[in-house]
Amino acid sequence: MDRKDAIRTLKERINIVDLVRRYVDLKRNGPRWMAPCPFHQETKPSFSVDEDKGMFYCFGCQASGDIFDFYARINGLEFKEAMEQLAAENGISLTAWQGGGRNAAQVQQAKSARQQMLRMYELAASHFSQNLLEAQGEECRHYITKRGLAPEIIERFGIGWAQREWRALAGVLHRAGCNTSMAVEAGLLGKSEKSNQPYDRFRGRMIFPIKSLSNQIIAFGGRIIADEDEAKYINSADSPIYKKGDHLYGLAQARRGIAARGKALLTEGYMDVLTLHQYGYDNAVGVLGTALTPEQIKRLSGFTSLLVLLFDGDRAGRKAALRSSEMLLTRGLGCKVVLMPDGEDIDSLLRTQGAAAFEALQQKAPEGLQFCVDVLKELAPKEGVEWARNFLGKLEIPELFSPYATRLAQYLGLSEEVLRQGVAELKERTKNSTGAKPSAKARVNLRDREIMMYAVRYPQRLEDLRRMGADMVLTSGVARTLWEKIEEFGPEEVLYHLDEREKNFWHKCRAATAPPLDSGEKELGALMHYLDNFYSEAQKSSLSAALRENARTGDFTADLEYLRVLQKTLERRDGQS
Ligand code: UTP
Ligand code: MN
Repeated sequence: MDRKDAIRTLKERINIVDLVRRYVDLKRNGPRWMAPCPFHQETKPSFSVDEDKGMFYCFGCQASGDIFDFYARINGLEFKEAMEQLAAENGISLTAWQGGGRNAAQVQQAKSARQQMLRMYELAASHFSQNLLEAQGEECRHYITKRGLAPEIIERFGIGWAQREWRALAGVLHRAGCNTSMAVEAGLLGKSEKSNQPYDRFRGRMIFPIKSLSNQIIAFGGRIIADEDEAKYINSADSPIYKKGDHLYGLAQARRGIAARGKALLTEGYMDVLTLHQYGYDNAVGVLGTALTPEQIKRLSGFTSLLVLLFDGDRAGRKAALRSSEMLLTRGLGCKVVLMPDGEDIDSLLRTQGAAAFEALQQKAPEGLQFCVDVLKELAPKEGVEWARNFLGKLEIPELFSPYATRLAQYLGLSEEVLRQGVAELKERTKNSTGAKPSAKARVNLRDREIMMYAVRYPQRLEDLRRMGADMVLTSGVARTLWEKIEEFGPEEVLYHLDEREKNFWHKCRAATAPPLDSGEKELGALMHYLDNFYSEAQKSSLSAALRENARTGDFTADLEYLRVLQKTLERRDGQS
Protein backbone atom coordinates (compact mmCIF):
# COMPACT_ATOMS: atom_id res chain seq x y z
CA MET A 1 0.00 0.00 0.00
CA ASP A 2 1.44 3.40 -0.76
CA ARG A 3 1.78 6.25 1.67
CA LYS A 4 -1.34 8.13 0.69
CA ASP A 5 -3.57 5.05 0.77
CA ALA A 6 -2.08 4.03 4.08
CA ILE A 7 -2.80 7.42 5.63
CA ARG A 8 -6.37 7.38 4.40
CA THR A 9 -6.99 3.78 5.45
CA LEU A 10 -5.52 4.30 8.90
CA LYS A 11 -7.52 7.45 9.45
CA GLU A 12 -10.67 5.55 8.53
CA ARG A 13 -9.80 2.58 10.65
CA ILE A 14 -8.51 4.19 13.82
CA ASN A 15 -10.89 6.15 15.97
CA ILE A 16 -8.95 9.00 17.54
CA VAL A 17 -10.86 8.76 20.81
CA ASP A 18 -9.92 5.08 21.19
CA LEU A 19 -6.32 5.87 20.41
CA VAL A 20 -6.04 8.81 22.81
CA ARG A 21 -7.83 6.88 25.55
CA ARG A 22 -4.94 4.46 25.72
CA TYR A 23 -2.84 7.27 27.16
CA VAL A 24 -5.22 9.85 28.56
CA ASP A 25 -8.29 9.73 30.75
CA LEU A 26 -10.85 11.29 28.39
CA LYS A 27 -14.22 12.51 29.64
CA ARG A 28 -17.13 13.39 27.41
CA ASN A 29 -18.03 17.07 27.34
CA GLY A 30 -20.81 17.92 24.89
CA PRO A 31 -19.66 17.19 21.38
CA ARG A 32 -16.03 16.86 22.48
CA TRP A 33 -13.88 14.72 24.72
CA MET A 34 -11.70 16.48 27.28
CA ALA A 35 -8.77 15.62 29.56
CA PRO A 36 -5.73 17.24 31.17
CA CYS A 37 -3.20 17.71 28.39
CA PRO A 38 -0.52 15.00 28.17
CA PHE A 39 1.84 17.42 26.44
CA HIS A 40 2.18 20.09 29.05
CA GLN A 41 1.94 20.30 32.81
CA GLU A 42 -1.60 20.94 33.97
CA THR A 43 -4.38 19.64 36.15
CA LYS A 44 -7.45 21.21 34.55
CA PRO A 45 -8.59 19.66 31.31
CA SER A 46 -7.70 21.88 28.33
CA PHE A 47 -7.01 19.00 26.00
CA SER A 48 -9.90 18.22 23.69
CA VAL A 49 -10.55 15.58 21.08
CA ASP A 50 -12.99 16.00 18.25
CA GLU A 51 -14.08 12.53 17.27
CA ASP A 52 -15.80 13.52 14.02
CA LYS A 53 -12.89 15.49 12.68
CA GLY A 54 -10.34 13.01 14.01
CA MET A 55 -8.33 15.85 15.56
CA PHE A 56 -7.04 16.83 18.98
CA TYR A 57 -6.33 20.28 20.28
CA CYS A 58 -5.02 21.72 23.54
CA PHE A 59 -6.29 25.15 24.55
CA GLY A 60 -3.40 25.48 26.95
CA CYS A 61 -0.34 24.65 24.87
CA GLN A 62 -2.02 24.63 21.45
CA ALA A 63 -0.73 21.17 20.61
CA SER A 64 -2.90 19.90 17.80
CA GLY A 65 -3.13 17.34 15.06
CA ASP A 66 -4.52 14.03 13.92
CA ILE A 67 -3.96 10.41 15.00
CA PHE A 68 -0.43 10.39 13.59
CA ASP A 69 0.58 13.59 15.30
CA PHE A 70 -0.79 12.36 18.58
CA TYR A 71 0.83 8.95 18.38
CA ALA A 72 4.17 10.38 17.29
CA ARG A 73 4.22 13.01 19.97
CA ILE A 74 3.14 10.87 22.88
CA ASN A 75 5.65 8.16 21.96
CA GLY A 76 8.44 10.50 20.92
CA LEU A 77 8.48 9.19 17.36
CA GLU A 78 8.99 10.80 14.01
CA PHE A 79 5.92 11.07 11.81
CA LYS A 80 7.02 8.29 9.51
CA GLU A 81 7.76 5.97 12.40
CA ALA A 82 4.38 6.69 13.94
CA MET A 83 2.73 5.78 10.70
CA GLU A 84 4.73 2.58 10.36
CA GLN A 85 3.88 1.49 13.88
CA LEU A 86 0.20 2.31 13.56
CA ALA A 87 0.16 0.50 10.22
CA ALA A 88 1.80 -2.55 11.74
CA GLU A 89 -0.66 -2.53 14.65
CA ASN A 90 -3.49 -2.49 12.19
CA GLY A 91 -2.12 -5.19 9.94
CA ILE A 92 -1.36 -2.89 7.04
CA SER A 93 1.90 -3.52 5.21
CA LEU A 94 3.74 -0.61 3.72
CA THR A 95 5.95 -2.43 1.26
CA ALA A 96 5.84 0.17 -1.46
CA TRP A 97 7.59 2.67 0.76
CA GLN A 98 11.25 2.25 0.18
CA GLY A 99 12.99 2.64 -3.09
CA GLY A 100 12.07 6.06 -4.40
CA GLY A 101 13.48 6.33 -7.90
CA ARG A 102 16.43 3.97 -8.13
CA ASN A 103 16.14 0.59 -9.73
CA ALA A 104 15.32 -2.43 -7.63
CA ALA A 105 18.73 -4.10 -7.85
CA GLN A 106 20.60 -0.97 -6.79
CA VAL A 107 18.23 -0.45 -3.92
CA GLN A 108 18.66 -4.04 -2.84
CA GLN A 109 22.44 -3.80 -2.98
CA ALA A 110 22.69 -0.54 -1.06
CA LYS A 111 20.21 -1.84 1.43
CA SER A 112 22.12 -5.00 2.00
CA ALA A 113 25.43 -3.15 2.46
CA ARG A 114 23.75 -0.94 5.03
CA GLN A 115 22.16 -3.93 6.67
CA GLN A 116 25.48 -5.72 6.93
CA MET A 117 27.06 -2.67 8.49
CA LEU A 118 24.25 -2.34 10.99
CA ARG A 119 24.73 -5.97 11.90
CA MET A 120 28.46 -5.40 12.39
CA TYR A 121 27.80 -2.47 14.69
CA GLU A 122 25.33 -4.58 16.63
CA LEU A 123 27.91 -7.34 17.00
CA ALA A 124 30.59 -4.85 17.97
CA ALA A 125 28.39 -3.19 20.57
CA SER A 126 27.59 -6.43 22.32
CA HIS A 127 31.25 -7.41 22.14
CA PHE A 128 32.20 -4.12 23.84
CA SER A 129 29.56 -4.39 26.57
CA GLN A 130 30.55 -7.99 27.21
CA ASN A 131 34.18 -6.88 27.60
CA LEU A 132 33.15 -4.42 30.23
CA LEU A 133 31.76 -7.21 32.40
CA GLU A 134 34.77 -9.47 32.07
CA ALA A 135 38.10 -9.48 33.88
CA GLN A 136 39.83 -7.36 31.25
CA GLY A 137 37.17 -4.67 31.71
CA GLU A 138 38.38 -4.00 35.24
CA GLU A 139 40.29 -0.80 34.42
CA CYS A 140 37.28 0.64 32.58
CA ARG A 141 34.90 -0.30 35.40
CA HIS A 142 37.27 1.47 37.72
CA TYR A 143 37.18 4.57 35.50
CA ILE A 144 33.37 4.47 35.37
CA THR A 145 33.24 4.41 39.14
CA LYS A 146 35.68 7.27 39.32
CA ARG A 147 33.45 9.31 37.00
CA GLY A 148 30.44 8.42 39.15
CA LEU A 149 28.38 6.89 36.37
CA ALA A 150 25.45 4.83 37.65
CA PRO A 151 24.89 1.24 36.45
CA GLU A 152 21.46 2.19 35.00
CA ILE A 153 23.11 4.79 32.80
CA ILE A 154 25.78 2.35 31.60
CA GLU A 155 23.01 -0.07 30.75
CA ARG A 156 20.68 2.47 29.16
CA PHE A 157 23.37 3.92 26.91
CA GLY A 158 25.03 0.58 26.21
CA ILE A 159 28.47 1.75 27.33
CA GLY A 160 31.25 -0.72 26.63
CA TRP A 161 34.99 -1.31 26.71
CA ALA A 162 37.30 -1.88 23.76
CA GLN A 163 40.19 -3.90 25.11
CA ARG A 164 43.84 -3.08 24.52
CA GLU A 165 44.33 -5.60 21.74
CA TRP A 166 44.84 -5.22 18.05
CA ARG A 167 42.53 -7.88 16.72
CA ALA A 168 39.78 -8.62 19.23
CA LEU A 169 36.85 -7.13 17.32
CA ALA A 170 38.40 -8.17 14.02
CA GLY A 171 38.23 -11.77 15.26
CA VAL A 172 34.62 -11.45 16.39
CA LEU A 173 33.55 -10.04 13.04
CA HIS A 174 35.55 -12.62 11.14
CA ARG A 175 33.99 -15.50 13.06
CA ALA A 176 30.53 -14.05 12.43
CA GLY A 177 31.26 -14.18 8.71
CA CYS A 178 31.42 -10.44 8.15
CA ASN A 179 33.11 -8.98 5.13
CA THR A 180 36.38 -7.35 6.23
CA SER A 181 36.52 -4.56 3.70
CA MET A 182 32.98 -3.66 4.59
CA ALA A 183 33.98 -3.50 8.25
CA VAL A 184 36.77 -1.14 7.21
CA GLU A 185 34.31 0.97 5.24
CA ALA A 186 32.01 1.02 8.26
CA GLY A 187 34.84 2.50 10.32
CA LEU A 188 35.18 -0.37 12.75
CA LEU A 189 38.46 -1.78 11.49
CA GLY A 190 41.55 -0.30 9.94
CA LYS A 191 43.86 -2.00 7.51
CA SER A 192 47.62 -1.99 7.96
CA GLU A 193 49.45 -0.80 4.87
CA LYS A 194 52.42 -3.08 5.51
CA SER A 195 50.85 -6.41 6.34
CA ASN A 196 47.44 -5.71 4.81
CA GLN A 197 45.97 -7.09 8.04
CA PRO A 198 42.78 -5.69 9.51
CA TYR A 199 43.05 -4.28 13.02
CA ASP A 200 40.64 -2.79 15.59
CA ARG A 201 40.28 0.98 15.37
CA PHE A 202 38.91 1.27 18.89
CA ARG A 203 41.47 -0.03 21.36
CA GLY A 204 41.80 0.68 25.06
CA ARG A 205 38.78 2.98 25.00
CA MET A 206 35.49 3.36 26.78
CA ILE A 207 32.83 3.02 24.07
CA PHE A 208 29.80 5.27 23.59
CA PRO A 209 27.40 3.79 21.01
CA ILE A 210 25.58 6.33 18.85
CA LYS A 211 22.09 5.27 17.86
CA SER A 212 19.74 6.26 15.10
CA LEU A 213 16.14 7.07 15.84
CA SER A 214 15.19 3.56 14.85
CA ASN A 215 17.33 2.44 17.76
CA GLN A 216 20.07 0.97 15.64
CA ILE A 217 23.71 1.52 16.49
CA ILE A 218 25.33 3.44 13.66
CA ALA A 219 28.59 4.74 15.11
CA PHE A 220 30.83 4.79 18.18
CA GLY A 221 32.71 7.33 20.17
CA GLY A 222 35.63 6.05 22.21
CA ARG A 223 37.41 7.78 25.10
CA ILE A 224 40.83 7.04 26.51
CA ILE A 225 40.63 6.29 30.21
CA ALA A 226 44.18 6.85 31.33
CA ASP A 227 46.84 9.46 30.81
CA GLU A 228 47.74 8.56 27.28
CA ASP A 229 49.37 10.38 24.49
CA GLU A 230 46.44 10.03 22.09
CA ALA A 231 43.32 11.88 21.04
CA LYS A 232 40.93 12.01 24.00
CA TYR A 233 38.07 10.81 21.83
CA ILE A 234 37.95 9.07 18.50
CA ASN A 235 34.70 8.69 16.57
CA SER A 236 33.48 6.50 13.75
CA ALA A 237 34.19 8.09 10.39
CA ASP A 238 31.37 8.77 7.96
CA SER A 239 29.98 5.63 6.39
CA PRO A 240 26.89 4.57 4.45
CA ILE A 241 25.04 4.35 7.77
CA TYR A 242 26.46 7.39 9.55
CA LYS A 243 27.16 10.97 8.67
CA LYS A 244 28.76 13.20 11.24
CA GLY A 245 26.56 16.18 11.94
CA ASP A 246 23.35 14.38 11.01
CA HIS A 247 22.84 12.77 14.38
CA LEU A 248 22.71 13.70 18.02
CA TYR A 249 24.15 11.67 20.83
CA GLY A 250 21.41 10.28 23.07
CA LEU A 251 18.41 11.29 20.96
CA ALA A 252 17.10 7.71 20.89
CA GLN A 253 17.19 7.65 24.70
CA ALA A 254 15.99 11.23 25.15
CA ARG A 255 13.13 11.50 22.73
CA ARG A 256 10.45 10.47 25.18
CA GLY A 257 11.81 12.91 27.71
CA ILE A 258 11.91 15.65 25.12
CA ALA A 259 8.34 14.99 24.06
CA ALA A 260 7.13 14.89 27.65
CA ARG A 261 8.95 18.03 28.78
CA GLY A 262 8.38 19.96 25.59
CA LYS A 263 12.03 20.95 25.34
CA ALA A 264 15.48 19.49 24.76
CA LEU A 265 18.76 20.21 26.52
CA LEU A 266 21.60 20.48 24.07
CA THR A 267 25.15 19.97 25.23
CA GLU A 268 28.55 19.22 23.72
CA GLY A 269 29.96 16.05 25.09
CA TYR A 270 29.25 12.39 25.64
CA MET A 271 29.87 12.60 29.37
CA ASP A 272 27.63 15.64 29.70
CA VAL A 273 24.71 13.73 28.20
CA LEU A 274 25.23 10.75 30.48
CA THR A 275 25.47 12.85 33.61
CA LEU A 276 22.44 14.94 32.71
CA HIS A 277 20.39 11.78 32.29
CA GLN A 278 21.72 10.43 35.55
CA TYR A 279 20.55 13.59 37.31
CA GLY A 280 17.07 13.15 35.87
CA TYR A 281 17.37 15.35 32.79
CA ASP A 282 16.16 12.66 30.44
CA ASN A 283 15.71 15.21 27.64
CA ALA A 284 19.43 15.83 27.10
CA VAL A 285 21.26 15.25 23.81
CA GLY A 286 24.78 15.99 22.55
CA VAL A 287 26.00 17.57 19.32
CA LEU A 288 29.08 15.35 19.17
CA GLY A 289 32.02 17.63 18.75
CA THR A 290 30.66 19.69 15.86
CA ALA A 291 28.83 22.97 15.72
CA LEU A 292 25.08 22.49 15.60
CA THR A 293 24.06 21.63 12.02
CA PRO A 294 20.84 22.24 10.05
CA GLU A 295 20.28 18.48 9.86
CA GLN A 296 20.46 18.18 13.62
CA ILE A 297 18.00 21.02 13.99
CA LYS A 298 15.63 19.32 11.59
CA ARG A 299 15.88 16.11 13.54
CA LEU A 300 15.23 17.83 16.85
CA SER A 301 12.40 19.93 15.56
CA GLY A 302 10.43 16.73 15.03
CA PHE A 303 10.20 16.49 18.79
CA THR A 304 10.20 20.00 20.14
CA SER A 305 10.59 23.59 19.11
CA LEU A 306 12.32 24.73 22.26
CA LEU A 307 15.98 24.08 22.96
CA VAL A 308 18.00 24.91 26.00
CA LEU A 309 21.59 25.35 24.87
CA LEU A 310 24.41 24.67 27.29
CA PHE A 311 27.67 26.34 26.36
CA ASP A 312 31.01 27.26 27.85
CA GLY A 313 30.94 30.73 29.34
CA ASP A 314 34.20 31.81 27.68
CA ARG A 315 34.47 33.97 24.59
CA ALA A 316 34.61 31.03 22.19
CA GLY A 317 31.64 29.45 23.92
CA ARG A 318 29.57 32.62 23.68
CA LYS A 319 30.38 32.97 20.00
CA ALA A 320 29.39 29.38 19.35
CA ALA A 321 26.17 29.91 21.30
CA LEU A 322 25.45 32.98 19.19
CA ARG A 323 25.78 30.99 15.98
CA SER A 324 23.60 28.17 17.27
CA SER A 325 20.91 30.53 18.53
CA GLU A 326 20.86 32.36 15.24
CA MET A 327 20.39 29.12 13.33
CA LEU A 328 17.56 28.02 15.58
CA LEU A 329 15.73 31.33 15.67
CA THR A 330 15.84 31.93 11.93
CA ARG A 331 14.36 28.47 11.44
CA GLY A 332 11.48 29.31 13.73
CA LEU A 333 12.58 27.44 16.83
CA GLY A 334 12.90 29.00 20.24
CA CYS A 335 15.93 28.71 22.48
CA LYS A 336 17.46 29.72 25.77
CA VAL A 337 21.16 29.93 26.46
CA VAL A 338 22.75 28.68 29.64
CA LEU A 339 26.42 29.59 30.03
CA MET A 340 28.60 27.42 32.22
CA PRO A 341 30.79 29.02 34.86
CA ASP A 342 34.52 29.23 34.14
CA GLY A 343 36.22 25.90 33.70
CA GLU A 344 33.09 23.83 34.24
CA ASP A 345 31.01 21.75 31.90
CA ILE A 346 27.55 20.53 32.87
CA ASP A 347 28.99 17.18 33.95
CA SER A 348 31.38 18.76 36.43
CA LEU A 349 28.81 21.33 37.54
CA LEU A 350 26.22 18.70 38.41
CA ARG A 351 28.82 16.53 40.14
CA THR A 352 30.25 19.30 42.28
CA GLN A 353 27.26 21.58 42.86
CA GLY A 354 24.21 19.43 42.18
CA ALA A 355 21.01 19.97 40.23
CA ALA A 356 20.06 23.07 42.21
CA ALA A 357 23.02 24.97 40.77
CA PHE A 358 21.96 24.03 37.26
CA GLU A 359 18.36 25.02 37.95
CA ALA A 360 19.56 28.41 39.15
CA LEU A 361 21.55 28.90 35.95
CA GLN A 362 18.53 27.94 33.87
CA GLN A 363 16.38 30.40 35.76
CA LYS A 364 18.48 33.33 34.69
CA ALA A 365 19.24 32.05 31.19
CA PRO A 366 18.26 34.64 28.61
CA GLU A 367 15.90 33.85 25.76
CA GLY A 368 17.73 33.34 22.42
CA LEU A 369 17.22 36.69 20.73
CA GLN A 370 18.03 38.62 23.87
CA PHE A 371 21.17 36.53 24.25
CA CYS A 372 22.27 37.28 20.69
CA VAL A 373 21.85 41.00 21.19
CA ASP A 374 23.69 40.92 24.53
CA VAL A 375 26.65 39.03 23.08
CA LEU A 376 26.83 41.37 20.11
CA LYS A 377 26.73 44.45 22.26
CA GLU A 378 29.63 43.06 24.18
CA LEU A 379 31.77 41.45 21.48
CA ALA A 380 31.04 43.65 18.49
CA PRO A 381 29.06 46.73 19.52
CA LYS A 382 29.34 48.32 16.09
CA GLU A 383 27.92 45.34 14.26
CA GLY A 384 24.57 45.13 16.01
CA VAL A 385 22.54 46.76 13.30
CA GLU A 386 24.27 44.88 10.52
CA TRP A 387 23.73 41.64 12.37
CA ALA A 388 20.05 42.41 12.97
CA ARG A 389 19.42 43.14 9.31
CA ASN A 390 21.23 40.01 8.30
CA PHE A 391 19.25 38.02 10.80
CA LEU A 392 15.93 39.39 9.59
CA GLY A 393 16.96 38.68 6.03
CA LYS A 394 17.61 35.06 6.89
CA LEU A 395 14.28 34.35 8.61
CA GLU A 396 12.81 31.29 6.98
CA ILE A 397 9.28 31.92 8.18
CA PRO A 398 7.86 35.21 6.89
CA GLU A 399 5.37 35.45 9.74
CA LEU A 400 8.26 35.85 12.16
CA PHE A 401 9.51 38.96 10.47
CA SER A 402 7.28 41.47 12.20
CA PRO A 403 7.62 40.26 15.77
CA TYR A 404 11.38 39.86 15.45
CA ALA A 405 11.83 43.24 13.80
CA THR A 406 9.89 44.85 16.62
CA ARG A 407 11.93 43.19 19.30
CA LEU A 408 15.27 43.81 17.64
CA ALA A 409 14.45 47.44 17.15
CA GLN A 410 13.57 47.66 20.80
CA TYR A 411 16.73 45.90 21.99
CA LEU A 412 18.96 47.98 19.73
CA GLY A 413 17.20 51.24 20.42
CA LEU A 414 16.40 51.81 16.75
CA SER A 415 13.28 52.49 14.80
CA GLU A 416 11.77 49.48 13.09
CA GLU A 417 11.72 51.41 9.87
CA VAL A 418 15.51 51.60 9.82
CA LEU A 419 15.85 47.86 10.26
CA ARG A 420 13.23 47.08 7.66
CA GLN A 421 14.76 49.35 5.06
CA GLY A 422 18.12 47.78 5.56
CA VAL A 423 16.65 44.35 5.07
CA ALA A 424 14.81 45.32 1.93
CA GLU A 425 18.07 46.64 0.44
CA LEU A 426 19.95 43.55 1.50
CA LYS A 427 17.37 41.30 -0.08
CA GLU A 428 17.38 43.33 -3.24
CA ARG A 429 21.14 43.00 -3.47
CA THR A 430 21.28 39.26 -2.85
CA LYS A 431 18.38 38.70 -5.19
CA ASN A 432 20.14 40.55 -7.97
CA SER A 433 23.40 38.80 -7.45
CA THR A 434 21.96 35.29 -7.33
CA GLY A 435 18.87 35.66 -9.45
CA ALA A 436 17.09 33.54 -6.86
CA LYS A 437 13.37 32.76 -6.81
CA PRO A 438 11.10 35.24 -5.08
CA SER A 439 11.84 35.46 -1.39
CA ALA A 440 9.41 34.46 1.31
CA LYS A 441 8.81 38.12 2.00
CA ALA A 442 7.97 38.80 -1.62
CA ARG A 443 5.49 35.95 -1.58
CA VAL A 444 3.85 37.45 1.47
CA ASN A 445 3.60 40.80 -0.22
CA LEU A 446 2.00 39.18 -3.21
CA ARG A 447 -0.54 37.51 -0.99
CA ASP A 448 -1.31 40.78 0.78
CA ARG A 449 -1.70 42.44 -2.57
CA GLU A 450 -4.10 39.86 -3.87
CA ILE A 451 -6.26 40.06 -0.80
CA MET A 452 -6.32 43.82 -0.80
CA MET A 453 -7.11 43.95 -4.50
CA TYR A 454 -10.20 41.92 -3.85
CA ALA A 455 -11.11 43.97 -0.81
CA VAL A 456 -10.86 47.18 -2.79
CA ARG A 457 -12.77 45.89 -5.77
CA TYR A 458 -15.53 44.34 -3.70
CA PRO A 459 -15.59 46.21 -0.39
CA GLN A 460 -19.14 44.98 0.17
CA ARG A 461 -17.67 41.49 0.45
CA LEU A 462 -15.36 42.43 3.29
CA GLU A 463 -17.38 40.34 5.70
CA ASP A 464 -16.91 37.23 3.51
CA LEU A 465 -13.22 37.88 3.37
CA ARG A 466 -13.08 38.30 7.09
CA ARG A 467 -14.88 35.01 7.63
CA MET A 468 -12.31 33.34 5.42
CA GLY A 469 -9.59 34.69 7.67
CA ALA A 470 -8.14 36.99 5.03
CA ASP A 471 -7.47 39.84 7.45
CA MET A 472 -5.46 37.55 9.71
CA VAL A 473 -2.85 36.76 7.10
CA LEU A 474 -2.12 40.34 6.09
CA THR A 475 1.40 41.08 7.19
CA SER A 476 2.51 44.30 5.62
CA GLY A 477 1.67 47.47 7.47
CA VAL A 478 0.33 49.07 4.29
CA ALA A 479 -2.19 46.32 3.68
CA ARG A 480 -3.31 46.22 7.29
CA THR A 481 -3.92 49.96 7.44
CA LEU A 482 -5.91 49.93 4.25
CA TRP A 483 -8.00 47.02 5.46
CA GLU A 484 -8.73 48.78 8.73
CA LYS A 485 -9.76 51.93 6.94
CA ILE A 486 -12.22 50.07 4.72
CA GLU A 487 -13.59 48.36 7.77
CA GLU A 488 -13.89 51.54 9.78
CA PHE A 489 -15.32 53.90 7.20
CA GLY A 490 -17.17 51.55 4.88
CA PRO A 491 -16.82 51.24 1.10
CA GLU A 492 -18.17 54.71 0.25
CA GLU A 493 -16.71 57.00 2.82
CA VAL A 494 -13.31 55.35 2.94
CA LEU A 495 -12.21 57.20 -0.20
CA TYR A 496 -12.03 60.42 1.80
CA HIS A 497 -9.59 58.87 4.23
CA LEU A 498 -7.00 57.40 1.91
CA ASP A 499 -3.52 58.80 1.50
CA GLU A 500 -1.89 59.29 -1.91
CA ARG A 501 -0.45 55.83 -2.14
CA GLU A 502 -3.64 54.11 -1.05
CA LYS A 503 -5.69 56.19 -3.45
CA ASN A 504 -3.41 55.16 -6.28
CA PHE A 505 -3.79 51.54 -5.43
CA TRP A 506 -7.55 51.96 -5.12
CA HIS A 507 -7.94 53.51 -8.53
CA LYS A 508 -5.64 51.02 -10.19
CA CYS A 509 -7.69 48.15 -8.84
CA ARG A 510 -10.92 49.71 -10.01
CA ALA A 511 -9.66 51.00 -13.31
CA ALA A 512 -11.40 50.11 -16.56
CA THR A 513 -8.55 47.76 -17.46
CA ALA A 514 -9.28 45.61 -14.44
CA PRO A 515 -11.43 42.51 -15.08
CA PRO A 516 -15.17 43.17 -15.07
CA LEU A 517 -16.83 43.16 -11.72
CA ASP A 518 -19.09 40.20 -12.44
CA SER A 519 -16.12 37.86 -12.21
CA GLY A 520 -16.12 38.59 -8.49
CA GLU A 521 -17.40 35.19 -7.53
CA LYS A 522 -14.65 33.47 -9.44
CA GLU A 523 -12.02 35.67 -7.83
CA LEU A 524 -13.48 35.04 -4.44
CA GLY A 525 -13.33 31.32 -5.13
CA ALA A 526 -9.68 31.51 -6.07
CA LEU A 527 -8.88 33.56 -3.03
CA MET A 528 -10.77 31.18 -0.82
CA HIS A 529 -8.79 28.27 -2.19
CA TYR A 530 -5.61 30.19 -1.58
CA LEU A 531 -6.50 30.95 2.01
CA ASP A 532 -7.62 27.40 2.64
CA ASN A 533 -4.20 26.19 1.67
CA PHE A 534 -2.56 28.82 3.75
CA TYR A 535 -4.48 27.90 6.84
CA SER A 536 -4.12 24.18 6.57
CA GLU A 537 -0.42 24.61 5.97
CA ALA A 538 -0.04 27.02 8.84
CA GLN A 539 -1.87 24.62 11.07
CA LYS A 540 0.32 21.71 10.13
CA SER A 541 3.67 23.34 9.76
CA SER A 542 6.21 23.96 12.41
CA LEU A 543 5.32 27.60 12.14
CA SER A 544 2.55 27.22 14.64
CA ALA A 545 4.72 25.12 16.87
CA ALA A 546 7.54 27.59 16.74
CA LEU A 547 5.34 30.54 17.44
CA ARG A 548 3.69 28.70 20.28
CA GLU A 549 6.95 28.00 21.98
CA ASN A 550 8.15 31.52 21.49
CA ALA A 551 4.97 32.74 23.01
CA ARG A 552 5.40 30.45 25.95
CA THR A 553 9.00 31.30 26.64
CA GLY A 554 9.39 34.93 25.75
CA ASP A 555 7.02 37.80 26.11
CA PHE A 556 5.79 37.16 22.64
CA THR A 557 2.32 38.50 23.11
CA ALA A 558 2.01 39.39 19.46
CA ASP A 559 2.53 35.78 18.43
CA LEU A 560 0.22 34.49 21.06
CA GLU A 561 -2.39 36.82 19.73
CA TYR A 562 -1.70 35.70 16.19
CA LEU A 563 -2.21 32.09 17.13
CA ARG A 564 -5.29 32.75 19.15
CA VAL A 565 -6.72 34.51 16.19
CA LEU A 566 -5.59 31.78 13.84
CA GLN A 567 -7.30 29.19 15.98
CA LYS A 568 -10.45 31.25 16.24
CA THR A 569 -10.48 31.71 12.53
CA LEU A 570 -10.09 28.01 11.96
CA GLU A 571 -13.02 27.35 14.26
CA ARG A 572 -15.02 30.03 12.55
CA ARG A 573 -14.30 28.49 9.19
CA ASP A 574 -14.86 24.92 10.33
CA GLY A 575 -18.12 25.94 11.88
CA GLN A 576 -19.42 26.92 8.49
CA SER A 577 -18.47 23.87 6.52
P1 UTP B 1 35.63 17.72 25.86
O1 UTP B 1 37.12 17.76 25.70
O2 UTP B 1 34.97 18.88 26.50
O3 UTP B 1 35.35 16.38 26.61
O4 UTP B 1 35.02 17.51 24.41
P2 UTP B 1 34.13 15.98 27.59
O5 UTP B 1 32.94 15.59 26.76
O6 UTP B 1 33.93 16.97 28.64
O7 UTP B 1 34.64 14.62 28.20
P3 UTP B 1 35.35 14.46 29.60
O8 UTP B 1 34.44 15.05 30.62
O9 UTP B 1 36.67 15.14 29.52
O10 UTP B 1 35.47 12.98 29.72
C1 UTP B 1 33.66 17.68 24.13
C2 UTP B 1 33.22 16.75 23.04
O11 UTP B 1 33.96 17.00 21.84
C3 UTP B 1 34.22 15.79 21.15
C4 UTP B 1 33.52 14.71 21.94
O12 UTP B 1 32.21 14.52 21.42
C5 UTP B 1 33.47 15.30 23.33
O13 UTP B 1 32.47 14.70 24.15
N1 UTP B 1 35.67 15.50 21.07
C6 UTP B 1 36.53 16.00 21.98
C7 UTP B 1 36.14 14.68 20.07
O14 UTP B 1 35.36 14.20 19.25
N2 UTP B 1 37.48 14.38 20.02
C8 UTP B 1 38.35 14.86 20.94
O15 UTP B 1 39.56 14.55 20.85
C9 UTP B 1 37.87 15.71 21.93
MN1 MN C 1 33.72 16.93 30.71
